[in-house]
Amino acid sequence: VAIIMDGNGRWARARGRPRLEGHRRGGEAVRRIVEAAPEAGITTLTLYAFSTDNWHRPRDEVDGLMELFEAHLRREWRRCARNGVRLSVIGRRDRLAPRLRRAIALAEERTAGGSRLHLRLAVDYSARESILGAADLARSEPALDPPTFSRLINRALHSEPAASDVDLLIRTSGERRLSDFLLWECAYAELVFTERFWPDFDREALGAAVQEFRRRNRRFGRLPGPAAGSGAP
Ligand code: FPP
Repeated sequence: VAIIMDGNGRWARARGRPRLEGHRRGGEAVRRIVEAAPEAGITTLTLYAFSTDNWHRPRDEVDGLMELFEAHLRREWRRCARNGVRLSVIGRRDRLAPRLRRAIALAEERTAGGSRLHLRLAVDYSARESILGAADLARSEPALDPPTFSRLINRALHSEPAASDVDLLIRTSGERRLSDFLLWECAYAELVFTERFWPDFDREALGAAVQEFRRRNRRFGRLPGPAAGSGAP
């Protein structure tokens, strides 16, 4: 499951509060959802915390978000370790502050044994950049054909302990966009959009999204039923 956590700013504006308060409350929602995820049957949860394009936001907001990520990691890794949650961060690291990088490394190291839930936080993440990273790997391949490129892409994107394709993508706040999130991995994802702002997203809302997913008829381009699969070239 992957979630585009959207609407922190509008949640704050609706209450006449600063945007950063919306992000803080968004951090509380992150904790709630991480706790609820295993009970909802989720084994991998990828949360879009900061996109590469988010660097274009005002300096104060970017700094506030980075502080929030660091505080969250320093505070939450123990709870994660206790609850069998393996935490990793995907995205570029080279533009993050050294202290945030250290907090990430610590959280990843201390939670590495978790097997109940793999929580992936996407920070300075761009799906297109990840795919370009795979193209970069491909440059050193002598015989590059589509199957080889596909293998490289899978290696580049899924190398982090065995994450794979997204089954369910949720976006909050009524927006209906992918915004450069897990483009390759979402090839057959079911998309669920909810009007709720992220700070109001809770266990029930997660359960409702999972229920909606279970009602969907997934066909992966085939016909349903036993007749499927006979026309392959
Ligand atoms: C989108 O809301 C949200 C973000 C850009 C940041 C996501 C960050 C959090 C949920 C904070 C805590 C996260 C962790 C991992 C501790 P928006 O600002 O675009 O909202 P708007 O569209 O209403 O302005």
